[in-house]
Amino acid sequence: MKIDGRNYRTIWREADNARVCVIDQTRLPFELSVVELHTVADAERAIKTMIVRGAPLIGATAAYGMALAMKADSSDNHLASSAKFLRAARPTAINLAWAIEDMVAHLQPLSPQGRTQAAFARAASICDADVAQCEAIGGFGANVIRRIADEKKRTVNILTHCNAGWLACVDWGTALAPIYKAHNEGIPVHVWVDETRPRNQGAFLTAYELGSHGVPHTVIADNLGGHLMREGRVDMAIVGSDRTCINGDVCNKVGTYLKALAAHDNGVPFYVALPSTTIDWRMKSGNDIPIEERDARELTHISGLTADGKLETVRVVPETSPALNLGFDVTPARFVTGLIMERGICEASREGLLELFPERRQEAAE
Ligand code: MRU
Repeated sequence: MKIDGRNYRTIWREADNARVCVIDQTRLPFELSVVELHTVADAERAIKTMIVRGAPLIGATAAYGMALAMKADSSDNHLASSAKFLRAARPTAINLAWAIEDMVAHLQPLSPQGRTQAAFARAASICDADVAQCEAIGGFGANVIRRIADEKKRTVNILTHCNAGWLACVDWGTALAPIYKAHNEGIPVHVWVDETRPRNQGAFLTAYELGSHGVPHTVIADNLGGHLMREGRVDMAIVGSDRTCINGDVCNKVGTYLKALAAHDNGVPFYVALPSTTIDWRMKSGNDIPIEERDARELTHISGLTADGKLETVRVVPETSPALNLGFDVTPARFVTGLIMERGICEASREGLLELFPERRQEAAE
């Protein structure tokens, strides 16, 4: 996608082949800066500290992390230890484990001499595949938006939570891809952007993305969505996912579940957009998903730009109050209208998923 007229992906390899570059998402929207990853430790730190975030981008960064690891030492031992090291960076998004498993499966059969080049090529193809999948998701999702626009004959109001745009992927995004496609086609859309406390991915990243692309949007407090739905001011919701189970349960940024409940009560269609790399084909239900607990400081403090242009962090909770910072929640499949995926839109259920991905039937055996 474009920033100031220049095309960007969130992750790329420099022409000198020595470095992998990522956009530093901890500085946005205040500063567009690029961080270079030279080692597997750099990649792990970027994932852990959320320089990169969003399920597909975490996977892409881990793939390049494995390639950087091979560049330093392509032995069997280092392949296994790097996979374990990267896997522990964040627990919830399944794309991380998926990308690492994919890299190991491709590299293990090769001789150590051939691994580095093969690893960079495989990481690049994981990134290209993510872009193609997200673009396809955009096409299927835009059909839904177009239908609503045709029926209502006015601007379609779409609510989204967290950031599931191109910054969360390699390009296009999941939940935002249909919005970009619809907007590019001239379908009038307006997006309600949940601020998404505590890290403000909505206010910082989704608003930045939509603004850079010229998509009309309004940032709202996380708790306003239910009221807007009751007033008929939300036509549909689209969110992303960090892990979706074989029964259709969806794990996403904390707060998603409450939006799904409000949507259900108000008859607002609630879609989840995700590539197949976000499906955990081995996990039967959302009850088993490990939910990341992050530093309470993310909740007790908030960062922003001062009037004189300095990025500062201030405390917003009394010093003596404990805080619990769980990063994700699970929305049961029964509250999901449909899963928008690269092969089409399916019911959030085992049958729905296997209809789109019949080749997974064996893996998803009960
Ligand atoms: O903690 P984050 O910012 O990595 O969480 C991101 C989300 O929850 C996104 O909604 C999800 O990864 C879908 S990304 C296309």
